[in-house]
Amino acid sequence: MAKTRRKIKEILPLIDAVAEVVDARVPVSSRNPELRSIIGAKPLMILLNKCDMADPAATADWIEYYKSKGITAIGIECKTGKGINAFKNAVKTLLADKLKAYADKGMVGKPLRVMVVGIPNVGKSTFINRIEGNNRAKAENRPGVTRGNQWFTVDKQLELLDTPGVLWPKFEDKTVGERLALTGAVKDNVIDRELLAVRLCEILAEDYADRLAARYKISGDYTDGYDLLCEIGKKRGMIMRGGEIDTERTANMLLEEFRNCKIGNITLERAKKNA
Ligand code: G4P
Repeated sequence: MAKTRRKIKEILPLIDAVAEVVDARVPVSSRNPELRSIIGAKPLMILLNKCDMADPAATADWIEYYKSKGITAIGIECKTGKGINAFKNAVKTLLADKLKAYADKGMVGKPLRVMVVGIPNVGKSTFINRIEGNNRAKAENRPGVTRGNQWFTVDKQLELLDTPGVLWPKFEDKTVGERLALTGAVKDNVIDRELLAVRLCEILAEDYADRLAARYKISGDYTDGYDLLCEIGKKRGMIMRGGEIDTERTANMLLEEFRNCKIGNITLERAKKNA
C-alpha cells in the first residue's frame, strides 16, 4: 500500500479527478479506506458497478447518499456497458469549471484526466476495456494483479489513467472480509463457508424476507442466521442420514444461488444502515 500511496501522490498533479469503482452490492466494504487521505481535495466520483446484480432501490439510495455528501455517484454495468455514457457526461459536469477555464485560456483540446481506482475485482479492468473499446487493459480475475501506468484516450475531452498499483480493502475489519467473500471478490476458502452463509442469512432475514418466501418458501421472522440456514436446508430436503440438516451443503447451495442472482438482486450494505 505504501508504494501505491506514493505513486498515486506523485501522479496527483497530473490528474483532474479520481473515479473509484466499487461493487454496488457492497459499496462500503469494496472501498479503499485510505483513498480520501491519499487524494486530498481532488474531486472524487463513485462508480457503483455491477448494478445488474445489485438491488436497484438500494443503489438509488446510495446515489442519493453520496449526493448529500457532495459526491457524484452513478450506477454502471461494465459487463453490458450500461452507464458508460453517463460516466463521460458526469465527468464533464463535475469538471465543467475546468473545461471552461481551458476554453477561456484558448486551451481547447486539452483533455480532462481522470484516474480510475478500485480494490481488486470490482471491475476496474472491465470498465477501462469497455470505455476504451479495446483490450489494452486486460480484465483478469486475479486479485492484486498489477499493471503499469497506462493512459487511455476516451475522446478528445477525456483521458483515463489506470491506478499505478493495487489498493486493498479494509481487511482488518472482519465484516469487510466476509462481505467481499460473499460477493466472490476474495476467495471463500479463507473463510468458513457455513459462517458466510449464516452472515448472508442474517442480511436476507432483515432486508429480503420477500425473496426468502419466493425462493425458499420461508415464512416467519428469523432473528438467527443459523436457524434460517437450517430452515432453508429443510425446505430444500438437504437432510443427512439420521435426520440432521446438512448445513454445509445448504451453505454451498445458498452462496452459489446468491452469487448467480437466483435469489434476485441483493445489496448487502445499505446507505441508511451501513454508510
Ligand atoms: P478488477 O480489474 O477490478 O480486478 O476487476 P475485473 O475487471 O477483472 O472484473 C472482475 C470480475 O467482475 C470479472 O468476472 C468481470 O467480468 C466481472 N464484472 C465486471 N463488471 C461487471 C458488471 O458490471 N456486472 C457483472 N455481473 N460482472 C462484472 P470474472 O468472473 O473474473 O470473469 P468473467 O465472468 O468476465 O469471465
